[in-house]
Amino acid sequence: MWILRHLLVLLMHLFLGSLAQKFSNGYYYQDIVNGNGNGNGEIYFHKIRLHVESPETLVSGVQGSNATLPCHYRYEPALSAPRRTRVKWFWQPVSGEGQERDVMVAIGTRHRSYGDFKGRVRLHRSAPGDASLVINPLQSDDTGRYRCEIIDGLEDESVTVQLNFRGVVFPYHSSRGRYLMNFHEAKEACEKQDAHLATFEQLYASWEEGLDWCNAGWLMDGTAQYPVVVPREACGGTELAPGVRSYGVRDKSLDRFDAFCFISTIRGEVYFLQHHIKLNFTEAVEACQSDGARIAKVGQLYAAWRFVGLDQCDAGWLADGSVRYPITQPRMNCGTSEPGVRSLGFPPKHLKHGVYCYKVRW
Ligand SMILES: *[C@@H]1O[C@H](CO)[C@@H](O)[C@H](O)[C@H]1NC(C)=O
Ligand SMILES: *[C@@H]1O[C@H](CO)[C@@H](O)[C@H](O)[C@H]1NC(C)=O
Repeated sequence: MWILRHLLVLLMHLFLGSLAQKFSNGYYYQDIVNGNGNGNGEIYFHKIRLHVESPETLVSGVQGSNATLPCHYRYEPALSAPRRTRVKWFWQPVSGEGQERDVMVAIGTRHRSYGDFKGRVRLHRSAPGDASLVINPLQSDDTGRYRCEIIDGLEDESVTVQLNFRGVVFPYHSSRGRYLMNFHEAKEACEKQDAHLATFEQLYASWEEGLDWCNAGWLMDGTAQYPVVVPREACGGTELAPGVRSYGVRDKSLDRFDAFCFISTIRGEVYFLQHHIKLNFTEAVEACQSDGARIAKVGQLYAAWRFVGLDQCDAGWLADGSVRYPITQPRMNCGTSEPGVRSLGFPPKHLKHGVYCYKVRW
């Protein structure tokens, strides 16, 4: 009898499963209820559907912090008794290339995590059917596509959530002065700072976080724009509301602006080199090398300021010949009252300053 029932389940599954699949991206399966208690072995088939959903398929996080990747499942119609449901999470690079790797598997209250994720992941379980994945802390190589798979007996359903790192947008101009770069030069300038031209979405998000910059810069889409939080005379006038102001799509070769660059995360450490004397630019480059590092790039300094909270009230040389310092806790004699990376521009290279170095951590 037992064998017969299971054989039937399997056959019905194969038959109805293949039918249902054509009409739905969900998946039907058959549940057997053994009679209505009259003991004559009647078998009823009920169609129960397993739904797996994610309200947010794009999640952004910050290295060192935590992230919750949403995944919820439910049965339709709702079940009267809980089922033995297995939750499995997989990871794949954003490119979608390469084999999926196991992140974790959970059955009931038991769970197990794998590889680099060991000890850093758990299920959120705020309510029945909540299979959201919590990663804490986020490491630099956690970005990618996470697939949440719910397995119930023979059936499985899944949903994919992408994890990106929140980044930082920074304005950049040429050492020769303002508004001197065409689109191609701006793109290259960002890449030299270990960054990329920002997208409009990235600039907009930075404006929401308070980026106020009065010089227009190229964006990835070939437009030139600038973010204004406090409208003022010197910055397009007080008539216009705060916002990201656009000059529209410009000529990529002929028109010249600054750049807005975006850097998401860095694999290494940026630090102010403790050195007994101040250095000119040539000496600064050499001092970092002697310390087993390289002189830091502008993007790396911004990333360290934004993601690691680097706060140092000492001006230091950077690889492009600019002198800057990062402040997360504004205080007296450390620039303006807002957090930010302060710039002293591109001083003559014989002048003496400190230096910021960058060391790769693996
Ligand atoms: C997760 O990060 C949020 C901020 O994004 C923070 O408020 C919360 O305390 C963090 N939770 C844990 C467990 O670290
Ligand atoms: C920096 O100082 C060294 C001497 O310590 C000198 O040789 C070098 O030319 C100087 N570099 C610049 C850019 O002034």
